[in-house]
Amino acid sequence: MVVGGQWGDEGKGKLVDFLAQRADMVVRSQGGNNAGHTVVTEHGEFKFQLLPSGILHPDVTCVIGNGVVVDPRVLIREMEQLRERGIEPRNLVVSERAHMVMSYHPLFDKVEEEVRGDDRLGTTWRGIGPAYSDKVRRIGFRIGDLQKEVFMRKKLGFVVGQVKNPILHGLYREQPFECEEMIVDYLGYARALDPYIRDTFPIVQDALDRHANVLLEGAQSTMLDLDFGTYPYVTSSNCSAGGACTGSGIAPTRVDRTVVVCKAYTTRVGYGPFPTELTDHVGDAIREGGNEFGTVTGRARRVGWFDGAVARYAVRLNGATSLALMKLDVLDEMPELRICLGYDFRGEFHDHPMANISHLKHCAPRYETLPGWERPIGHCRTWEELPPNCRAYVERLEELCGTPIQMIGVGPRRDQFVVRGQPFF
Ligand code: IMP
Repeated sequence: MVVGGQWGDEGKGKLVDFLAQRADMVVRSQGGNNAGHTVVTEHGEFKFQLLPSGILHPDVTCVIGNGVVVDPRVLIREMEQLRERGIEPRNLVVSERAHMVMSYHPLFDKVEEEVRGDDRLGTTWRGIGPAYSDKVRRIGFRIGDLQKEVFMRKKLGFVVGQVKNPILHGLYREQPFECEEMIVDYLGYARALDPYIRDTFPIVQDALDRHANVLLEGAQSTMLDLDFGTYPYVTSSNCSAGGACTGSGIAPTRVDRTVVVCKAYTTRVGYGPFPTELTDHVGDAIREGGNEFGTVTGRARRVGWFDGAVARYAVRLNGATSLALMKLDVLDEMPELRICLGYDFRGEFHDHPMANISHLKHCAPRYETLPGWERPIGHCRTWEELPPNCRAYVERLEELCGTPIQMIGVGPRRDQFVVRGQPFF
């Protein structure tokens, strides 16, 4: 299992792509096209939102699991983009239990953000929250419903006619949706997706039973988790380890290893507390150096020092067996580096993020300063090749997080990893 340890964008896609070389199956279990994964291969750069990162490995079965919310338009577009580059996504299966982001969900996302005014969350406007809300309200549509025309027609009549349009038109003065037009669109999506829609339960379980290497690819991250993140500045799914299990149908006892992925510094997109945020030239330098601009929305990411309290929280919450530390090379030129040990708030020291986001917003991070290594590490492939100050930084993070750092990203390319030990499979 690969899980994000911060606020997303840690480089999970690159790690999954690397690990997928030895996987038989990659499963996505939550999130939707709010996620953005960039993978750089010898064939160039690929950006995925819904497709599992393993899709570039033709022998790996890629599963979009039941916990994902799928916008069929986006999935079809991504598959077409792959085809244009000569790759047929033959290895893709989509759970019939996965819910759909319907055409009205992005509009609800937008208008609901607008009415929040200054308290808006900074969502990606992809309709993720509204889609998950409808799933819980039991008025959602599942991918499998595409194969049931009569049912689709009847249910759309109810959901659109009785629930969505009255709110959209009556409350927000937006154009109502036309059920007949929607049916035509959705029948088209049904035709395009039909070969890929499956009951993924036996597919995944049979793979586990024959001891295949199954990789669970997390999207978003621990601090964006609906329960354990900085609520309400979170996404609408459980992106920690528990959500990966329910979102794929893989029992916790079948997970052998959990890798928490962190960047060597911290970033966040959208609003909400971020104790180690840097709003000065150091932050600007890291943003530029790390190209910290959103894959999905293009927004500049907020940037800050490595937060040891957040990373340790992620390690404990997800039961990490190891950490992967990404983008360490971005810190190459820093004369010194700061690491957050925890937070001082009203005379008390907290070694993990507080549930009360107001406390997290107003706390003072307590830092430790380490010397930088001030030379490039992009060519390094072994632990010994890394400069001593660089190793000292990594070792200190390991100590703070309480788990070994077995993978270290030293550049954007697929091969730019320092691997310590024999961590996987
Ligand atoms: P939503 O998931 O679109 O509802 O957005 C909720 C919050 O999660 C916003 O702050 C988004 O910026 C953030 N978010 C959602 N997906 C990602 C991601 O893949 N990376 C980073 N932040 C994300």
